[in-house]
Amino acid sequence: MTTAAHLRDKFAVVTGASTGIGAAITERLAASGAHLVLVARSAGKLDEAAERLSRRHGVTVRAVALDLATADAPTRLAKTLADEGIEVEMLVNNAGVSTRGPVLDGDPARFRSLIDVNVTALTELTTLLMPAMVARGHGAVVNIASTGGYIPAPYLAVYAATKAYVVSFTRALWAETRSTGVRVVAVSPGPTETPMNPRGTRSAEAVAATVLRALSGNGPAVVDGRTNALTALLFGRLLPARLSLAVARRIMAKSGE
Ligand SMILES: NC(=O)c1ccc[n+]([C@@H]2O[C@H](COP(=O)([O-])OP(=O)(O)OC[C@H]3O[C@@H](n4cnc5c(N)ncnc54)[C@H](OP(=O)(O)O)[C@@H]3O)[C@@H](O)[C@H]2O)c1
Repeated sequence: MTTAAHLRDKFAVVTGASTGIGAAITERLAASGAHLVLVARSAGKLDEAAERLSRRHGVTVRAVALDLATADAPTRLAKTLADEGIEVEMLVNNAGVSTRGPVLDGDPARFRSLIDVNVTALTELTTLLMPAMVARGHGAVVNIASTGGYIPAPYLAVYAATKAYVVSFTRALWAETRSTGVRVVAVSPGPTETPMNPRGTRSAEAVAATVLRALSGNGPAVVDGRTNALTALLFGRLLPARLSLAVARRIMAKSGE
């Protein structure tokens, strides 16, 4: 099992590390002594973060600018890591994009790209990087989902559906690999204040703390924060599906005003 205490001098790969929740996770991991591979599209932001994190925490930080919506990006990342002899102890699939509005007003190309980042890249990176962890008998894969993964979300339909995939995929993977020594967990934030969601109420730092804590747990899925956990339970399991959808539609329509 890989907890925060086991990360010292080991490498963690964090996608979507240039801003928001990903940046907060890298700060926590570096403070735990982990070396880092930062992945996102914005090369400049990644270089700045790499310089800051290595200066502040004395860890090695490698920045890899990559568009995870492109088909060969996960394979290229895995090859870069292998070529540089980087043994990955932890993978945090955090990169994500969102789009709001009625499905029928949406741009199919944008939906495709969103699914490529939120679903395809996450699945491929897990498939490419986790076998070496299993072979070593330790490591961790953390997939960042969302409370939207527990509740179909009108006006955020494609995004929430990708997050339902992340929760379902991670739970199944957890069941397949639970005796391997590799920790697999989906962490679901609710509304969190980041560039993706400036009106979010939780802080990215609180979510990052939940991610690190989730390493020491043993369940397949964790929701960040008590209110969010209650919301996921209520809308995802306790309320009848039609009522849950009707309330979700009202809330989402209002929040889009
Ligand atoms: N904020 C919330 O309320 C909230 C709630 C629930 C779940 N989440 C989830 O938490 C995760 C982080 O979100 P956030 O709120 O921190 O969002 P954010 O601040 O917008 O950060 C998203 C990160 O993903 C990267 N990214 C986006 N598209 C990419 C691409 N094509 N290739 C590579 N990297 C890409 C961005 O970097 P570049 O732009 O530099 O590529 C950035 O580092 C996401 O999975 C999101 O769905 C967020």
